[in-house]
Amino acid sequence: SGAAAGLTDLAGRSVVVSAGGTREYLDPVRFLGNRSSGLQGYALARAAAARGAEVTLVAANVSLPDPAGVKVVRVETTAQLREVVVAAAAAADAVVMAAAPADFRPVDVSTHKIKKAADGSSPAIELTQNPDILHEISTQRSRPGSVIVGFAAETGDASGSVADLARAKLARKGCDLLVVNDVSGGAVFGSPDNEAVILAADGATVDVPHGSKGALAHVIWDEVARRLQD
Ligand code: CTP
Ligand code: CA
Repeated sequence: SGAAAGLTDLAGRSVVVSAGGTREYLDPVRFLGNRSSGLQGYALARAAAARGAEVTLVAANVSLPDPAGVKVVRVETTAQLREVVVAAAAAADAVVMAAAPADFRPVDVSTHKIKKAADGSSPAIELTQNPDILHEISTQRSRPGSVIVGFAAETGDASGSVADLARAKLARKGCDLLVVNDVSGGAVFGSPDNEAVILAADGATVDVPHGSKGALAHVIWDEVARRLQD
C-alpha cells in the first residue's frame, strides 16, 4: 500500500474527510446521537496527510486530538456537517464520508430545558429526515473527475444480503466507492480494527482483510488515487 511504499501519490491533491457522529438537539442540553467514535475518519485523514494531500477533516463530536498537518473543522449537527462538507467538496479532488450523520432530527428544538409534566405524561418527539449529504455531493459535482467515497455498515435483512444491500446503496447514493462493513456479528464501536469490502461503481470489488483502521485507510486511498483524473 501507499503507507509501506512511502508514496506521496496524493501530493497536490485536496481531500475532505468527515468523521464522528452528528447530534440533533431536543433542547439546550439534550440530543439524539450515535456511537460513532471517529477513529476511522481520523485514520483516513492521517493517511491522506502522510501521502501528501491537503486535508480538511470535518469532525462531528469526536474526542480525539487533532491530527498533525490537517485542517480540522468541528461541527455538531447534520445541518452543520452538510454546510461545511458541501462547501469544501466544491474544490476537493476527493471526499470520504466516514461520518455517521443522524438520519432524523426533532421537528422542534426547545429553546429552554424540557421539564417533566406535573401530570406525569411523557412528551412525544416528532422527527423529520435529514438531508443526504453523500447523495448531494455525488449527484451535484462541481469538480468533474473527483472521487467520492461513502461508508455503510450493513447486516442484511429479509430484503437482501449484505452484498445486495450494499450494491443498491452504492447505486442510490451515486458515489464512486462504498466501503462496506458487515456488522451481522454485532457492531463494534470504538474498535481500533476494521474489516471491509470496497465496492466500486465501475464494478470492482476489493476485499480488505481484518486489520487496523490505518491499514484500511491506506487501501481506501489506494483505490481513490488510481481513480483520480488529471
Ligand atoms: N450519509 C450522508 N448523509 C446522511 C446519511 C448518511 O452523507 N444524512 C452518508 C454516510 O456518511 C455514509 C453513507 O451516507 O457514508 C451511508 O450511510 P448510511 O447510514 O448507510 O446510509 P442511509 O442512506 O442513511 O441508509 P440507512 O437507511 O441504511 O441508514
Ligand atoms: Ca443512516
